[in-house]
Amino acid sequence: MSCLQQGWPEPIIRVQSLSETCVSAIPDRYVKPPSERPEPQPVIEEANIPLIDLGDLLAGDDHSTILNQISEACRDWGFFQVVNHGVSEELMHRTLQLWGHFFYLPIEEKLIYANSPLTYEGYGSRLGVEKGAILDWSDYFFLNYLPETLRDRNKWPSLPSSLRETVEEYCEELVKLCGTLMKLFSITLGLGEDHLPKAFGGDDIGACLRVNFYPKCPQPDLTLGLSSHSDPGGMTILLPEDHVAGLQVRRGDSWVTVKVAPSALIVNIGDQIQVLSNANYKSVEHRVVVNSAKERFSLAFFYNPKSDVPIGPLKELVTPDCPALYTPMTFSEYRLHIRMKGPCGKSQVESLKCPH
Ligand code: OGA
Ligand code: NI
Repeated sequence: MSCLQQGWPEPIIRVQSLSETCVSAIPDRYVKPPSERPEPQPVIEEANIPLIDLGDLLAGDDHSTILNQISEACRDWGFFQVVNHGVSEELMHRTLQLWGHFFYLPIEEKLIYANSPLTYEGYGSRLGVEKGAILDWSDYFFLNYLPETLRDRNKWPSLPSSLRETVEEYCEELVKLCGTLMKLFSITLGLGEDHLPKAFGGDDIGACLRVNFYPKCPQPDLTLGLSSHSDPGGMTILLPEDHVAGLQVRRGDSWVTVKVAPSALIVNIGDQIQVLSNANYKSVEHRVVVNSAKERFSLAFFYNPKSDVPIGPLKELVTPDCPALYTPMTFSEYRLHIRMKGPCGKSQVESLKCPH
């Protein structure tokens, strides 16, 4: 069964099973070239991404401070964490825990959902389909939530038994939070609050969830849990386990390790908002480092534009001084390129750059 290829260029090996069996050395396929390993670029230990409290906003109070903080974070960092975001802490905890149980089911139970590169839906162990690629030290489960026509609960794990309904409950809450953030982004870009949401396709947006599992790694200095990339979609809301660090965000030629506040969610701008905002808002590279002592889980919720609307710089943000930086492309077309190559820094969004 472990040789099941389903369209992948090589037999799929589960990182979790490698982690359980390889005691001292990781296979060559996971060893990154020296320049891509965690070490060569420095880590700025004392820094952290901005923390924004959405409490006042949801209570309807004056929110000029919050708007300034969001604007600054999206222009400068491309990343921030939010607290008092309206998503129940109990639900966040329960969802993470259920996925932890899923990954600890017997392998046969998980292989029912083995995925293929065509849709990525299901249980996977690699991104990108290039033969011979160096792989990341992680397994994942990917599922579609919106549009509803793509939602197929039968492709979601049937065990643990409450997982499917919990995923729906969690995703519903996150769609609401993303709706709020979209309006805030729109306002802080100097547009009406519905402008950016409309450019995303109004009510027909896309949303999917990727549950990342980073097993313990005997040689964490040689590999990455997730290679450096920017998120291809609109925005991402990440729920990491709060007691295990791993996510690093690019800051110039250095990296910043994200220190998550209790019950916070991490928000980051994806390539589609960078393009729509004509690069006022940045989709910033990030990566995940693994460690030998602790495994780590995270839930990455991707909020995306409707797949068939061309995404290009909004005309209100194009001026003689700031000409349009990107050629429009639909998200479905954009995503195809990413699926071929897997994580590859910011090369995809760079390739849309207009030849000025
Ligand atoms: C992602 C991602 C970070 C993490 O899934 O795109 O960047 O900490 N995840 O798992
Ligand atoms: Ni990411």
